[in-house]
Amino acid sequence: MANAERTLVLIKPDALQRELAGEVLSRFEKKGLKIVALKLTNLDDSTLQEHYGHLADKPFFADLKSFMMQTPVIAMILEGLGAIDEVRKIVGATNPREADAGTIRADLSMNVPSNMVHASDSPENAEIEMKRFFKDDEVFTYVKLTDKYHFGEGV
Ligand code: TYD
Repeated sequence: MANAERTLVLIKPDALQRELAGEVLSRFEKKGLKIVALKLTNLDDSTLQEHYGHLADKPFFADLKSFMMQTPVIAMILEGLGAIDEVRKIVGATNPREADAGTIRADLSMNVPSNMVHASDSPENAEIEMKRFFKDDEVFTYVKLTDKYHFGEGV
């Protein structure tokens, strides 16, 4: 939709291990975010070096990378009004014990790095991250019957 934003989300290995991937996806769907790309993918070292480059000098970086390689991740692009900020709001703060109740991280997890979800934190990073994980022909544009509720002019 012309007035919507797109953002990159990863459902992390702890969610897959704990059989909570569906629960996470469901929270985004219920909010009214449209799934425009979705796949299971393995992260390799060089992708993680890029994706988490801002953390490369942190003592936990090696553990973070091996955590992210435990299983494939579910990568997706979600579309919606203000999607970048809305998704970050639903995901919650990085440390699940500091996240607000009702967020995915607060409700479903206890600790880093196993905090369930990655979500782009700015329009600039969303553009870079969507391209990191998806080719143009893997991203879809389609009409849903509910679009008028989620993308309409509002009242
Ligand atoms: P970061 O980009 O700071 O946060 P966010 O995921 O909320 O955008 O950190 C990336 C991931 O690194 C974070 O989701 C979990 C992990 N991490 C740790 O394992 N330990 C830490 O102290 C921090 C800050 C992050």
